[in-house]
Amino acid sequence: MDAAHAAMFTRSNVKKLRMPNIGSALQFEMMKMEILKPLLIAASDDNLTNLRFAKLFRTRRGNRRYLRDLMQKVDAQERNHLTQAICNHVIAPGRAPPFERKLKALDAKLTAEDWLRTALRANAIGMKLKITLRRPDDWHLHLRDGNMLRAILPYTSKHFARAIIMPNLVPPVVTSADAAGYRDRILGALPDGSKFEPLMTLYLTEQTDPDDVAAAHASGLIKAVKLYPSGATTNSASGVSHFDSVRPTLERMAEIGLPLCVHGEVTDSDIDIFDREAVFIDRVLDPIRRTTPGLRVVMEHITTSNAVDYARSQDETLGATITTHHLVINRNHILAGGIKPHYYCLPVAKREEHRLALRDAATSGEARFFLGTDSAPHTDANKLLPCGCAGCFTALNTMSILAQAFEEDGALDKLERFTSLNGPAFYDLPANEDTITLTKGDPVTYPSHVETPDGPVTVFDPGFDLNWRVE
Ligand code: DOR
Ligand code: ZN
Repeated sequence: MDAAHAAMFTRSNVKKLRMPNIGSALQFEMMKMEILKPLLIAASDDNLTNLRFAKLFRTRRGNRRYLRDLMQKVDAQERNHLTQAICNHVIAPGRAPPFERKLKALDAKLTAEDWLRTALRANAIGMKLKITLRRPDDWHLHLRDGNMLRAILPYTSKHFARAIIMPNLVPPVVTSADAAGYRDRILGALPDGSKFEPLMTLYLTEQTDPDDVAAAHASGLIKAVKLYPSGATTNSASGVSHFDSVRPTLERMAEIGLPLCVHGEVTDSDIDIFDREAVFIDRVLDPIRRTTPGLRVVMEHITTSNAVDYARSQDETLGATITTHHLVINRNHILAGGIKPHYYCLPVAKREEHRLALRDAATSGEARFFLGTDSAPHTDANKLLPCGCAGCFTALNTMSILAQAFEEDGALDKLERFTSLNGPAFYDLPANEDTITLTKGDPVTYPSHVETPDGPVTVFDPGFDLNWRVE
């Protein structure tokens, strides 16, 4: 039902659930997807939660009847590339004759000339071959210090206007004095003429002084505080073990409107590494949100459908960043056919269904989801060890990869929200005024690694051609 009608249902026993792009005959669509009955049962058992609904609604991706109707609908609109994408999605796991026939027919129809015509038409309306976005920001970035900082910062400052700078240096950035010193070193390492603005953060410890945090916020020095559960990731040893001991700081942050960026993984050795994010949400994040109302929280680098669903179930005080690499790789990329240390990061990439949930979130345009690359350089020598470091270095090719991924999902029109609009809105900052332009053409090549005085750093390889280049 549409928004105007939905607004008329206000009783306490009414639960509103969104089914975007499904049209007006919801009950028939739900029957087609075979979710109406389980949905009614869940409602009558009084356990129709947002999560339960989201899970049911997601079955549409595997439902032939729904997909066939969708394919016919977009085909009738002559949206040939979207039709191709749907067909490819359906035939991938097995045989699906109507989709294979349509794909063959389209392949024959879409001759090179045809493609060029489509491309030129799209270009004429400024959509396909050339896109101009407000300049992006990176809401989660590791810049390191010293030689490494000087070697890698230019790649971020070339494309991005601002970035939230992670404080996990050795030793970490824990006080406002540390943050001021680090900010000056970053500014000093910028290429001449760069207007890049580092948005500083403090590393939350059990000794953090709420007054110091408040003063750093009031002066404009810091834009967030970072919570690392102790032992969760690179240089997190000074992080938090007893969440009660940081409550005074969290309460002060809620009062002054300073966001908390959260590395959302529990570190208990009995919890499987692939479950650590989901367990963190239940055991740590949700309790913090309940006991500290009003605290603005960013779930950093989310990797699971559990995190996507949780973010969607909360109000606008909760945001979530998504990295470039988690939109592209799943755990098979790391482990199948030989171990790939350059795909190892934390939180570790999960199953394919989780990657798809992240793609759905990033390309949805929803305000709560925005880009945080978590670009985290380590030298090859430190990655290729018996106990190698976690981190993917994506600063160079992030924008090309994102354009490719959003195009593949038919969502280029949502790219700007993800990279340039949703983040500033969450952090209460203006969106950037200047722009960047991406153009589509022959595959762009990026260097396989960047040389630094500490040794080479491998650039993340998405595993597919990149046709979008930043001008
Ligand atoms: O993969 C990661 N690398 N995840 C983190 O949380 C930290 C980061 C780093 O600093 O290398
Ligand atoms: Zn990080």
